[in-house]
Amino acid sequence: MLRVGMLTSGGDCQALNATMRGIVKSLYGKRDDVEIYGFQEGYKGLIYSNFKMLTSKDFSGILTVGGTILGTSRQPFKKMREPDENGLDKVEAMKHTYHKLNLDCLVILGGNGTQKTANLLREEGLNIVSLPKTIDNDLWGTDMTFGFQSAVDIATDVIDKIHTTATSHSRVFIVEIMGHRVGWVALHAGIAGGADIILLPEIPYDPENLADTINRRAKEGKRFTIIAVAEGAITKKDAKLSKKEMKEKQANSPYPSVAYEVAAELQKRTDQEVRITVPGHTQRGGIPCAYDRVLSTRLGASAAQMILDGEFGYMAAMVDGETTKIPLSEVAGKLKYVDPKSSIIKEAKLVGISFGDE
Ligand code: F6P
Repeated sequence: MLRVGMLTSGGDCQALNATMRGIVKSLYGKRDDVEIYGFQEGYKGLIYSNFKMLTSKDFSGILTVGGTILGTSRQPFKKMREPDENGLDKVEAMKHTYHKLNLDCLVILGGNGTQKTANLLREEGLNIVSLPKTIDNDLWGTDMTFGFQSAVDIATDVIDKIHTTATSHSRVFIVEIMGHRVGWVALHAGIAGGADIILLPEIPYDPENLADTINRRAKEGKRFTIIAVAEGAITKKDAKLSKKEMKEKQANSPYPSVAYEVAAELQKRTDQEVRITVPGHTQRGGIPCAYDRVLSTRLGASAAQMILDGEFGYMAAMVDGETTKIPLSEVAGKLKYVDPKSSIIKEAKLVGISFGDE
């Protein structure tokens, strides 16, 4: 008997179900003695032994279904070593559930924090296989995470729609795109949607520079300006603040989010009408795009192969178009940032996109 535990953790994304389907279809394709234990709401289900037994049927018809059939929750890594409100040792509880069910391995689908806890469980002796989920595409070790392309498609569609109304009204539009620490979605959707300005956490901007770009465009007779701003975009001035100072600033900020701050800066410096659009969690919702369905199916099959071969302690990854496995010890705690010196940034600048930095 092959007993496989499975959980989805952290913010959801479009291709979680597609990935689990890929894993389970591959396992059942090779063995008929598989038992799947689906833990509910991420690590919470493992901690409190809340699971359901699933069969291959549960994974049929979910390729195109967004969200996760297992549910998810955020269980911050830094709190994993802290006891819960009843004094329960969460790590010991997770190990207890794993051993009680006599699992052969645990499959974990998640982003950065999730991978850190996955590595912790590996260090504690559990057999772990993980998969790279996040719309942010910020996991180190894989060129692509599933969810990213679907989110880019949605954010691009938003920018496309804003374009027509911005043109009609001669307005500046700020579209706020998900990504607190990294700007991959904003960068790709910004380029795909033909944004005039893209603001990323990795490239601090100068509000004066933004205003100059907008005023110059207006003088040239351009009827609108579209700004794609990542949630974590930051001014050059703020980039010099310490972590503590930045936290204080955010706590006392009069703005609900970064787009409103950018709008306020622009209103001081231009006489253009400014509007804000925040697609928010729609970027994580709905059906996975075709690219993500292929990626998820491949990563799922590759994770299943690891399980069948008894190779544990790895994250399934995509590198240079080929599936591969990366040691969890290397993945945990590392983020993949947009490199301001990379060719994609140079090319975007060459076609006239401003990043507000020069
Ligand atoms: O990590 C994925 C992500 O969607 C980020 O892009 C975003 O900043 C964050 O999650 C939103 O988190 P929550 O769903 O907890 O509001």
